[in-house]
Amino acid sequence: MKGLIIVGSAKVGSHTAALAQYLKGQFEEHELNVDIFDLAEQPIHQLDVSGASEPTESYKNNLKELQTKAREADFFVLGSPNYHGSYSGILKNALDHLTMDDFKMKPVGLVGNSGGIVSAEPLSHLRLIVRTLLGIAVPTQIATHDSDYGKLDDETYYLANEEFQLRARLFVDQIVSFAQNSPYEHLK
Ligand SMILES: Cc1cc2nc3c(=O)[nH]c(=O)nc-3n(C[C@H](O)[C@H](O)[C@H](O)COP(=O)(O)O)c2cc1C
Repeated sequence: MKGLIIVGSAKVGSHTAALAQYLKGQFEEHELNVDIFDLAEQPIHQLDVSGASEPTESYKNNLKELQTKAREADFFVLGSPNYHGSYSGILKNALDHLTMDDFKMKPVGLVGNSGGIVSAEPLSHLRLIVRTLLGIAVPTQIATHDSDYGKLDDETYYLANEEFQLRARLFVDQIVSFAQNSPYEHLK
């Protein structure tokens, strides 16, 4: 069983990526293999149904990798910064490149980070999208603020807030429980 965490920040080394890293560690405690696909590190081109644009090879390769990992994933975490009161366009574009076949009846956890007033609204918006993709958004979600993170000597962020560390463990337990018990397997 494996999972995929998609990070939708525009910034390399984002808070959302640090949260993803913490979650990956928690999934590993359950001996589950989880990949992080950070869209800032591996950008993909904008969806272009008519084919008018010419994406670079590296963008195309990144997209192929994302689509392969999404198809193989048994569960997801979608992570996004708060951009203008919602989740990022970068993440939406990534989801537009994926389909119901990638998400159908798979558990999906939602996490986000705000730099201003902390808000769970981006996650509420994502919850609607997950439903449309036929995924199962688990009830527990994580909405952090920049101040919940510390910085290591090499300037990388880490999740420092102990309450959120605890919540992250509960969040992961919930996703793992859904994924391992597959309550919706017969509906696939
Ligand atoms: C385009 C854009 C829009 C933003 N809009 C909001 C906002 O509406 N509310 C907010 O609290 N922060 C907003 N921010 C600030 C980000 O949430 C903040 O930079 C946060 O640290 C991003 O998290 P990250 O490091 O995971 O990318 C915005 C940032 C950008 C770049």
